Amino acid sequence: MQTTIKNIENDLCGQLTRTTLAKEIEDIRIAFLGKKGSITLLLSQMKELSLEDKKIFGPLMQALRQMAETSIDERKNYLVQQEAQAETVKSQLFDVTVNVSKAQEGHLHPYTHIIEEIQQIFLSMGYEIWDGPEVETDFYNFSALNIPQDHPARDMYDTFWTNIPGNLLRTHTSTVQIRAMQERTPPIAGIAPGRTYRHEAVDASHDYQFMQCEGLFVDKNVTIGHLFATAQTFLKAFFGKDTLDIRIRPGFFPFVEPGFEIDMRCVFCKNGCSVCKQSTWIEVFPGGMVHPNVLKAGGIDPEQYAGFAFGFGLTRLGMLKYGIDDIRLLYSGKLKFLEQF
Ligand code: PHE
Repeated sequence: MQTTIKNIENDLCGQLTRTTLAKEIEDIRIAFLGKKGSITLLLSQMKELSLEDKKIFGPLMQALRQMAETSIDERKNYLVQQEAQAETVKSQLFDVTVNVSKAQEGHLHPYTHIIEEIQQIFLSMGYEIWDGPEVETDFYNFSALNIPQDHPARDMYDTFWTNIPGNLLRTHTSTVQIRAMQERTPPIAGIAPGRTYRHEAVDASHDYQFMQCEGLFVDKNVTIGHLFATAQTFLKAFFGKDTLDIRIRPGFFPFVEPGFEIDMRCVFCKNGCSVCKQSTWIEVFPGGMVHPNVLKAGGIDPEQYAGFAFGFGLTRLGMLKYGIDDIRLLYSGKLKFLEQF
């Protein structure tokens, strides 16, 4: 009898240690403590024993049952805990080899790139960045810029007038010159990049809406030389050239005197190409010395101060730099085009 008890005990211990799954523990419990389990059967044999044997083996059998119950419970609890722990660890691991499709990234519009580049260059030269309204008055767009009513120069600007008399969509960023002078005292140095509008038929190089960048510098003893040096420094930096020739031609704008067209040497060729129309020069930078009437309109005394101003087509410069041959692409919303930037 004693051997039987010992064998059952060993068998149970062996099975419990070999089991690594909590769900298998219940099978073991049934095999030992169930209705037909080995320990239950052994206990049922008690009644067949003699009184003396009962006294000896009774406590041993009870002890065996107790031991079986506790060790089965303990093993089960242990395995349940282990499994929960393993589950947590597993949920924290991730597979670095899994091929997850790349999220589509947004990016800046080419205009934003161009404006930022231009701003950086002028900021490095000590200029401020100005902003101005796109819906303007006749005064800021024309009269203050030395283009009075009925002046033929108004024909240069095909204007979108609004329903409110005297209000228009600005035809150039020169409007910001007057606003800047009214708000400041010299020395004044700033640029104003922004949208401009002209009532023009749309083709590959014209749009009714485009971007300009105005520049204004006012101080004592400012000369044409300062304007040319500024133009050259800016163009070299923007097109990434160590040297870049510029050429100056007379140009008429009512708000400057003298006025110029500044051309730069073609950045695409040496002997002429379609961009420079075989001339090796590209017209990029209109400017001039601020007309005394314009300084006066801005509240600045032309006897004391002088200034230069320029207003280049930002759209045009961007198209040249990035080799964009159709202005309409810029606002087309075509992803194939936009994603290149
Ligand atoms: N505002 C002028 C234009 O749009 C450009 C310009 C600005 C010329 C400043 C000279 C000085 O045509």
